[in-house]
Amino acid sequence: MCGIVGAVGAELDLVSIFEGLRRLEYRGYDSAGVAIIHHGELEVAKASVARESMGVLADWLTAQPFTTGQVMVGHTRWPTHGAPTLANTHPHLDCTGDIAVVHNGIIENFRELRQALLERGHVFRSETDSEVIAHLLEEALRDGGRPADALGAVFSQLIGHMSIVVALRSYPGLLLGVRRTSPLLAASNAQQSFFASDAPAFLSLADQFYEVPEEVVVVLGEGVEGDGGVALATLEPLAIEWSSQDAVLDGFASYYEMELHQSPEAFYDTVSALMTLDHEAVVDQLLIDSYELRRVRKVVIIGCGTSYHAGLVGRYLVEHLARIPVEVDVASEYRYRDPILDADTLVVGISQSGESLETITALRECMASGARTIAITNVIGSQLSRVADAVLYTRAGPEISVASTKTHLAQIGALGMLAIYLGELKGVLYPEESKRRRQELLAMTELLRMTVQRQESWRAGMAEYLHRERFFFIGRNLLYPVAMEGALKMKELSYIAAEAYPAGELKHGPIAMLDEQAVVVALLGKDRLHEKMLSNLEEVRARGAKLVVVAVDGDTSPTDLADTILRVPQSDALWSPLLMVLPLQVLAGWMAQIRGYDLDKPRNLAKTVTVE
Ligand code: G6P
Repeated sequence: MCGIVGAVGAELDLVSIFEGLRRLEYRGYDSAGVAIIHHGELEVAKASVARESMGVLADWLTAQPFTTGQVMVGHTRWPTHGAPTLANTHPHLDCTGDIAVVHNGIIENFRELRQALLERGHVFRSETDSEVIAHLLEEALRDGGRPADALGAVFSQLIGHMSIVVALRSYPGLLLGVRRTSPLLAASNAQQSFFASDAPAFLSLADQFYEVPEEVVVVLGEGVEGDGGVALATLEPLAIEWSSQDAVLDGFASYYEMELHQSPEAFYDTVSALMTLDHEAVVDQLLIDSYELRRVRKVVIIGCGTSYHAGLVGRYLVEHLARIPVEVDVASEYRYRDPILDADTLVVGISQSGESLETITALRECMASGARTIAITNVIGSQLSRVADAVLYTRAGPEISVASTKTHLAQIGALGMLAIYLGELKGVLYPEESKRRRQELLAMTELLRMTVQRQESWRAGMAEYLHRERFFFIGRNLLYPVAMEGALKMKELSYIAAEAYPAGELKHGPIAMLDEQAVVVALLGKDRLHEKMLSNLEEVRARGAKLVVVAVDGDTSPTDLADTILRVPQSDALWSPLLMVLPLQVLAGWMAQIRGYDLDKPRNLAKTVTVE
């Protein structure tokens, strides 16, 4: 949600640490701040001018007479408590101004703690829950305790999921970090050590990354042995496969456009890693015993946002290829549904970041009911990957733009591979058939490459709808989740009211809203529902709404009905969601661009949501 960085070491190059913070901006961008310890002084700078905050801070930093420091902490905020004002911007200080705290997550009991601190004479400068940490630490350190012990004692009083990094003016060689569920990594090079919410912050500076265990205070810096807490040397190294180049804009104007373009490779890398050259399943990632998977009688798929939509496509894939009943729900709902689970239920949690708190907590509850769990995530070592019994990694490389593109396709690829494997284990697919299906899935890469090249032609067709304000997306069967994803992209990026409906449901209410001003985007697959879908298009046409049809090459049936046709290559209907979603991603991005919106950082959103 919020992004955190921290660095400690001799002669820290402050600009490069700040660049690390900038790379976490996708986690929140309403305001940002840094605290720097140099020559025994603690300097704090903050900016709260929405997306300009990083620029303001960068200008401040370059205007300073110093370029190096001993400690730096930084924070980029997605507000939970208090508006995005300067006062609410992190780092937060204690009353003495010697303790600087950055925090990600929610302190559920902060009201009681704040009230008690106020009664004991502390002065608060913000409305945030985070500020209580600084004041509690002030008290804990007053009695001369060791920093790590003090932070440990404070942390044990805080209820909720969170990560915290602390810098202390009186200990300029130290940096402290602690977490519960929320992400925090440690990293190092020969001279310096770092904390970060996410690896992209320090891909170009660090040569080793480490897991920060939950509930223990990790101390970075010189001679930390005597300071309590856990030192870097004792942490478990993390294998991060991304390189610093992966997160660099490669001539594109935005990450959104770059990542959309990278979709075929993201898909290929994900799918090919799960099969041999001979198209046999590679299951060493799947630590669940095949005997247990054979026993599975129900699959539950959970996720949020775009990951949830991939899960909805996954339902059709698993039901069709493995003939196992599938339930799909948004994680925040599933958890509170009092779900019926047992040891024969397989739960698949999907999360690009592996950090969405709702997906993690829902998965944990499923495990408590005895179900077996698989995580599908893009981030190695992420919380979700550690919680689940097994992991299928999507190998899409870092995704920076808030609105997912390439990871969505990679998730569908991973779900396709899982569905084929379950079908094979269940005896629904003969070995030769499952090999053919895998081959077919991998071959979608080439069609994806061709489809991504069609962006210009789609744009030409869409020009006249750029200023419309009401969009409906319709599809049937496994193209219905694609319609949902299209509507979500439109809302996320262009802030346009967009709704998705199963095409057959249109006549049960939404059709009342159709008039000349409305635009209906219909996904017309070449499948067994083709004729029924054409009838739905006639219904739209008769109400005077503008009709945009996404259709496969060679399908002339919508020619007389549609105002515009966006073409994608023909494929097996089962894999068509992979291709049909692309024009919708392009369309939403283009609408946002024309309206002058930031494609990578839509208002009010964050890439990873670590609060409920
Ligand atoms: C946030 C983002 C969405 C994303 C969702 C799930 O809400 O704004 O774009 O789809 O989180 O994220 P995850 O990392 O769990 O896939």
